[in-house]
Amino acid sequence: MLIDVLTIFPKSFSPVINESILKRAQKSGKVKIRINDIRDFTLDKHRKVDDRPFGGGPGMVMCAQPMFSAVQHILRSTKHKAHSTKRKVILLSPQGQTLTQKLAKKLSGYKHLILICGHYEGVDERVKRYLVDDEISIGDYVLTGGELPAMVLIDSIVRLLPGVLGRSESLNEESFKNRLLEYPQYTRPAVFKGKKVPQVLLTGNHKLIAQWRKFKALEQTKLKRADLLKNK
Ligand SMILES: C[S@@+](CC[C@H](N)C(=O)[O-])C[C@H]1O[C@@H](n2cnc3c(N)ncnc32)[C@H](O)[C@@H]1O
Repeated sequence: MLIDVLTIFPKSFSPVINESILKRAQKSGKVKIRINDIRDFTLDKHRKVDDRPFGGGPGMVMCAQPMFSAVQHILRSTKHKAHSTKRKVILLSPQGQTLTQKLAKKLSGYKHLILICGHYEGVDERVKRYLVDDEISIGDYVLTGGELPAMVLIDSIVRLLPGVLGRSESLNEESFKNRLLEYPQYTRPAVFKGKKVPQVLLTGNHKLIAQWRKFKALEQTKLKRADLLKNK
């Protein structure tokens, strides 16, 4: 998978994408992440990316031109057919479809994602209408920029790519799979501050353990996220 990010804060991505699983996924060639500076695509000698809103009002709006030029440049430089067949241009936006595990899974099937990070008061509406395929939000709150949402989106997608997680079974039972939360997990020691690990987990009886986990997953979901069980 190829992921291109358009941002005015390219340095902000390094601490996240160059650590841990995302770092390994890039090293092993499962994903290539390119961070593109929107300012490199301005026609203005001061590399200005924003301007005052038409009609007045507070703050600045990000201009359409550098974003259109950046996407055009990326498309021209990524002629490989594998990338053109399954490609999506996404604007991170509080007005978009909310990111869910299901959406992350769907996006993990794409070959090329172009993620645009807005800032200030947001982006010129023509970017939304004529450049992007989808707007994605990471929740009903407003952040200062699209960089954190883009990192969240990248992380949620890359861990789902085949071979990225050490044991792919861990994806089968984790939260939101089959609209359930994951069962409780314990590790050593078996007794901590007098609190014991459930006895069944120490029996070595895989059938019993599987039954207990299924029950606990349902119980956790009912207690914490009963909405997930609707129509189930
Ligand atoms: C301050 S916000 C703009 C909010 C805009 N004025 C509005 O009311 O819809 C600046 C940028 O941050 C990003 N952003 C903020 N909150 C977000 C969220 N919940 N999900 C995704 N992106 C978000 C978007 O890229 C947005 O263009």
